[in-house]
Amino acid sequence: MQAQIDQYTTEINAFSPANAEELEAFRIKFLGTKGIIKDLFEQFKNVGPEEKRTFGKVLNQFKQLAEAKYNELKEATDLGLKTQDLGLDLTLPGDGFAVGSRHPLSLIRTEIIDIFKRLGFVVAEGPEIEDDWHNFSALNFPEEHPARDMQDTFFIKKNHGKDDIALRTHTSSVQVRMMENGKPPFRAIMPGRVYRNEAISARAHCFFHQVEGLYIDENVSFSDLKQTLYHFVQELYGEGTKVRFRPSYFPFTEPSAEMDISCTICKGAGCNMCKYTGWVEILGCGMVDPNVLENCGIDSAKFTGFAFGMGIERIANLKYVIRDLRLFSENDVRFLKQFQADII
Ligand code: DAH
Repeated sequence: MQAQIDQYTTEINAFSPANAEELEAFRIKFLGTKGIIKDLFEQFKNVGPEEKRTFGKVLNQFKQLAEAKYNELKEATDLGLKTQDLGLDLTLPGDGFAVGSRHPLSLIRTEIIDIFKRLGFVVAEGPEIEDDWHNFSALNFPEEHPARDMQDTFFIKKNHGKDDIALRTHTSSVQVRMMENGKPPFRAIMPGRVYRNEAISARAHCFFHQVEGLYIDENVSFSDLKQTLYHFVQELYGEGTKVRFRPSYFPFTEPSAEMDISCTICKGAGCNMCKYTGWVEILGCGMVDPNVLENCGIDSAKFTGFAFGMGIERIANLKYVIRDLRLFSENDVRFLKQFQADII
């Protein structure tokens, strides 16, 4: 009887029906009312008491094996039959899962943040709706001074007859909030959206994005500013990218400069991205004007610092050679999907 069971066990394990009929034949053969298992249990009645003990267990295990095999195959064929009915073929590859991509501005912003984080800068944010104080006055823009015209402002609300609440024109306003609300040293970068009243074209938009940087401590010098920005450029655009500083003017820094880098497209040889000069401007910077420090309650005799501000779109243009600013906000999928796929 043991030999018989062993043989059946092998047969059951190897059994693989081609269709529902074969499976039904299997059921009748092993589990049917006149089937093998029934027959074995009949035989079992006649064995001696000694054998009964060991054999009972073997027989029960065998029965469970046959039942389990049948149930498993039945489920599979039922499913197969159902899907056949529905005209489904489970062997076909599944539908592709559309994975989005990151917006180029997000990619660049993250990259900039990561570089400055490694230098110990923290990230700070401020409101997009600002008052005159934070956007202009505290930053040393004199009242009625033409410097305010540098930035065409969307004013929202008047206060005492004077334009007061506006959409911020630059992220320099976040510097003010940071200095007003904390104690030096400060080492922060401040990414965000800014607004200017400009006609929309390939080269100008009524909103864009900036990253502001601020470093205030004792004994901070212009050479710290130069080295920090030099390092930033090497990290972002690769070793060997040249930088140069040109004197400039911003009300909130003194001295002020604009920083150019060797053209990332033609490597300085001259192309229409750099207007055949070999250089492209990427940011404004300077030593924070003592008036700004005092406006924010910081002792300008003790502390000095530098600040810088750059447009993220500009940085992205140079990295990805995007020549029309409008592409960044139109959300045309053909444009967006050209950038790095998101990781899920
Ligand atoms: N706020 C300036 C702008 O929007 C950029 C800028 C220039 C920021 C010099 C700075 C700076 O912090 O020091 O054009």
